[in-house]
Amino acid sequence: MTTISKISSINNSQSVVLLCEKTSNLDNYGLSKQETEFLKREINEREKKYVCFNQLNRYVFVQLIDAKPEKYKTLEGLRKAASGIHNMLVQLKAEAITVIDVAGNAPETIAFTEGLALSNYQFLKYKKDKEKEKFSLKSISVYGKGINPKHVEELQILCDAVNISRTLVNEPPNFLTAIQLSKEFQKMGKEAGFNVEVFNKSKINSLKMGGLLAVNLGSIDPPTFTIMEYKPSKPTNKKPVVLVGKGVVYDTGGLSLKPTPNSMDMMKCDMAGAATVAGAIYAIAKAKLPVHVIALVPATDNRPGGNAYVPGDVITMYNGLTVEMLNADAEGRMILADALAYAQKYDPMLVMDFATLTGAAIAAVGMSGIVTMGTADERTKNKLKASGDNTFERLAEMPFWDDYDELIKSDIADMKNIGGPYAGAITAGKFLGRYVNYPWMHFDIAGPAFLTAKDAYRPKGGTGVGIRMLYDYFRNNF
Ligand code: BES
Ligand code: MN
Ligand code: ZN
Repeated sequence: MTTISKISSINNSQSVVLLCEKTSNLDNYGLSKQETEFLKREINEREKKYVCFNQLNRYVFVQLIDAKPEKYKTLEGLRKAASGIHNMLVQLKAEAITVIDVAGNAPETIAFTEGLALSNYQFLKYKKDKEKEKFSLKSISVYGKGINPKHVEELQILCDAVNISRTLVNEPPNFLTAIQLSKEFQKMGKEAGFNVEVFNKSKINSLKMGGLLAVNLGSIDPPTFTIMEYKPSKPTNKKPVVLVGKGVVYDTGGLSLKPTPNSMDMMKCDMAGAATVAGAIYAIAKAKLPVHVIALVPATDNRPGGNAYVPGDVITMYNGLTVEMLNADAEGRMILADALAYAQKYDPMLVMDFATLTGAAIAAVGMSGIVTMGTADERTKNKLKASGDNTFERLAEMPFWDDYDELIKSDIADMKNIGGPYAGAITAGKFLGRYVNYPWMHFDIAGPAFLTAKDAYRPKGGTGVGIRMLYDYFRNNF
């Protein structure tokens, strides 16, 4: 992984990015008079926002901060600019880069560095010739009087968490079974300092988690239910915040089989919600935020094997409610419902679930944001939305009107697991809403969790979406 560190003197033989404003003074960075003049012409006359040239032993990149009326857009512009410079660094085979805050723009410098570090992610585990494909860049140094070294350490932790989560999503289903996923969580817990408990199939049986067990019926591999907990010595919250992540390690659609090739081949991403909540608790624990958090992950694959549940089955869930299961491909809500009902035992102040839950969420906002809905108060919602903006993991809130409750009524059970042809993301949320008795938000990350093409600092494949938004929320509000 990329090392990010604050430095207190600039090494003039290492390539640099001078992050500055139009009028910034660029003396004292080892540039010749001609170079400085060249830069002035490029910036002032030719109105360039980005200039690059090479000296004998290093490359010099000059990146102007293009201030937008809304600061979060400026920051996102810089993350994206960083991904462009990352492409150059890789082509140039640079191993190290120094990012210099020329004009006292600490948050902008951190955002730029974040863009570089997040761009430097690769998943090469299964390549024979890893070294050949490996990006050259290994370390990023940050220089600037106004840069708080704590913020640089924090950025390292956060980027590591995002990249671990991306890797979990990218791992193929023949490696990442539900059991393997729980082992990965245990490794993360050891590394970051949080507690991990894994329920195996017989424990899940004895707890009567009917939704998780039903989805698992068509599978040869057993389900798992993982509880991760981080409790600092003096948490600022009396009641815990509980995160819940959908851990469907592969979604074939079960007996309501998905058509292939277009809709099944990405379905290893169906545990992205689990990767998000594990990544979030990893970052929170490693950064020792003063917040008591618990993360729950119900995990299984969804397959049409032997005893698979069939459309028409009635399932009794963990909390005793019954579900007429009419589509085996609406499996996410079945396993999440059990986890949400289980969360009641913690008397939580807030529960947030993350799930690649519906194609309808993708239809609504594409890859650009997270579809959200829930019962938390407006203040909490606004704080979460602010964190979504800060990190550009933006939240699009759906209506949660009573009308939609009608759509999941069943003739013979307490509810059915599908709604009508419209508002599919909302009816899925409404289903989950039947299992909560606490302030709750649901985040449908089906769009941004997994990309079929690289988008600036978001790689092709797993993106780790949600972790940065959550971390920002916990850091600023607890
Ligand atoms: N895992 C899928 C949702 C999904 C689709 C995630 C595309 C990522 C990309 C989920 O389990 C699913 O199949 N949902 C169905 C629900 C329907 C049957 C009510 C859907 O959205 O089509
Ligand atoms: Mn499905
Ligand atoms: Zn699914």
